[in-house]
Amino acid sequence: MASTQVTIAGIHFPSCVFNASGPRDVTLPELREIGASGSGAIVMKSCTPEPRDGNEEPRYADLPLGSINSMGLPNLGYTQYCEFPKDLAEYGKPVIASLAGMQPSDFPVLVEAFQKSDVDLIEVNLSCPNVKGKPQIGYDFEASDAILSLLDGLGDKPLGVKLPPYFDFVHFESMAAVLKKHKIAFITCVNSIGNALVIDAETERPVIRPKGGFGGLGGQYLKPTALANVRKFHELLGDRVQIIGVGGVYTGTDAFEFVLAGADAVQVGTAFMQEGLGCFARIDQELQAILDRKGYASAADAKGKLKAL
Ligand code: SIN
Repeated sequence: MASTQVTIAGIHFPSCVFNASGPRDVTLPELREIGASGSGAIVMKSCTPEPRDGNEEPRYADLPLGSINSMGLPNLGYTQYCEFPKDLAEYGKPVIASLAGMQPSDFPVLVEAFQKSDVDLIEVNLSCPNVKGKPQIGYDFEASDAILSLLDGLGDKPLGVKLPPYFDFVHFESMAAVLKKHKIAFITCVNSIGNALVIDAETERPVIRPKGGFGGLGGQYLKPTALANVRKFHELLGDRVQIIGVGGVYTGTDAFEFVLAGADAVQVGTAFMQEGLGCFARIDQELQAILDRKGYASAADAKGKLKAL
């Protein structure tokens, strides 16, 4: 049987298929459920300095090909997520902290705290589209660079960046240049397509309430853009930065496409929200079957093997 185990920044993952920060990962009971599932890691909700209720309901809607959300970073505050890894150690899989500052000076405070915690990897979320009045930092290359400069040398735990989707080659190149200036071990690629608008023609209203209905688009709508981002960053960053692909992974075939594009691992967001905890083992088994059929010994073996047409 082909292996879906993977090593990211020196940390061993029992499967390269795991949850995306966002759905069902706010509370310790939810994180325990992920620990007990087939997920190859436990990724915690992006947290902020203070606890947040997030945006008003309804703030998530399933769509025919995915989802739209404007959650607004509901979370328990970072101090809780610094403690949870102790309770999650029994599951024997990596725990990934995800953090989002409300202002640049928050980022080093949060990173320093997680550097002292028992988490295995730290993801810096520069791409949440749903906090009112706060633009997605990842689209501002100078601001991203300035924030990452504040994080250099804060500790030895591997640091990653969660990026928004980019749509132009010059933007990929600008962000790759920023990432190369800092000690970034991995990127999570990509967050939802921010500020999409879905309208219910019957009610003549948007399907979610916050921000006049504008929210992040996930699921199948996102996959081609996510694949393009993984591919381009793999080309630009090579082996110096590992890539966790996210955006429309519902099946082993989706996961295999991300691996071909250059991903080391994949995260599951909307499919986890819609299907529940069983999605991880199912996708992992489907991926193993495809790797076997194609003659790859492991997912790592297939990484970046996209062929030219
Ligand atoms: C949210 O909580 O609004 C989603 C998180 C994100 O998009 O980073």
